[in-house]
Amino acid sequence: MLHLDKVSKHFGGLPALDQVSFSVPRGQVTALIGPNGAGKSTLINCMTGVLEPTSGSIRFIDQQLVGQAAHTIARLGIARTFQNLKLFPRLSVLDNVLTGLNCEAGASMTLAMLRLPYLRHRERRLKLRALEALDRFGLADKSRVPVEVLAYGDKKRVELARACVAEPLLVLLDEPVAGLNSEETAAVGEQLKRLRTAGQTLLLVEHDMELVMEIADQVVVLDSGRCIARGTPNEVRNNPLVLEAYLGQMEATA
Ligand SMILES: Nc1ncnc2c1ncn2[C@@H]1O[C@H](COP(=O)(O)OP(=O)(O)OP(=O)(O)O)[C@@H](O)[C@H]1O
Ligand SMILES: [Mg+2]
Repeated sequence: MLHLDKVSKHFGGLPALDQVSFSVPRGQVTALIGPNGAGKSTLINCMTGVLEPTSGSIRFIDQQLVGQAAHTIARLGIARTFQNLKLFPRLSVLDNVLTGLNCEAGASMTLAMLRLPYLRHRERRLKLRALEALDRFGLADKSRVPVEVLAYGDKKRVELARACVAEPLLVLLDEPVAGLNSEETAAVGEQLKRLRTAGQTLLLVEHDMELVMEIADQVVVLDSGRCIARGTPNEVRNNPLVLEAYLGQMEATA
C-alpha cells in the first residue's frame, strides 16, 4: 500500500533519515522501532506532508506523496496520531473526533450559516459516525466532556478515535501507548488488535516491545536514520544489529 524508496531527510546538513526503503503491505501491521532519535517520528512527518523529504520517493497506492500538502495526503486516506497529543483541549471529546471528519464536512461558512436541511442532515450523519467511533474506542460516556479534564490514557484514545473515524486506508500511530500505565496499555492494545482483525492497515511506531511482538506482522528497525533490519518479529528480535542498537542506547542512558 505504501512504498518508501531511499527516503532521506536532513536538518541543517545532519541526516535524520538516510536512504530509508521499505513497504507497508495492505491489511497488515508494520511496526517501526528503533532507539530514541532514530528518525521514526521524522519518517511519519514525511509520510503525512508535515515535512518534505530531502530526497527519495513515498508512493501510496498510485500516488506520489512527496511534495503534496498534508491536507491532500489526509484526503487520500492516511490518518495519524501524534507522539505528543495534538487535541483541542477546550473542545468536547465528540467535537475533537468530529475534526477527523472535516475532510468530508465540506460546507463553506456561508452555506453552514444558512442551516439548509440537507446540511443539517449531513451534520447529523457525521455526528452519528463520530459517536459510533467513540463507542468503538470505549469513550461513549465521555462524549460531552472537554478533553482537558480527561486522564492521559483517555486522551490517547480520543486521538485514536479521531484517526479512525473517517475509516482511512492507512493509519500511522506514533507511540500510542507511551506514558500509559499497564491497564491503559492493555486497553489500547486490545483496540489495536481489533483494528488489525478488521483488516486495518497500520504503521505502528512503538517502544513497547511486548505490544510490537504481539501485533506486528513485520518489523522495520531504524537506527540513526538508517534502516538496519526488517523481518518478522522473531527474526528482528534475534538480529545482532538490532540488539547492538538497543544496547548502545542503554549504555548511553546508563
Ligand atoms: N525539526 C527538526 N529540526 C532539527 N532536527 C530535528 C527536527 N526533528 C527531528 N530532528 C532530529 O532528527 C533526529 C530524529 O528525531 P525523531 O524525532 O524522528 O526520532 P524518533 O525516532 O521519533 O525518537 P523518539 O523515539 O525519541 O520519539 C533527532 O536527532 C532529532 O533531534
Ligand atoms: Mg518519535
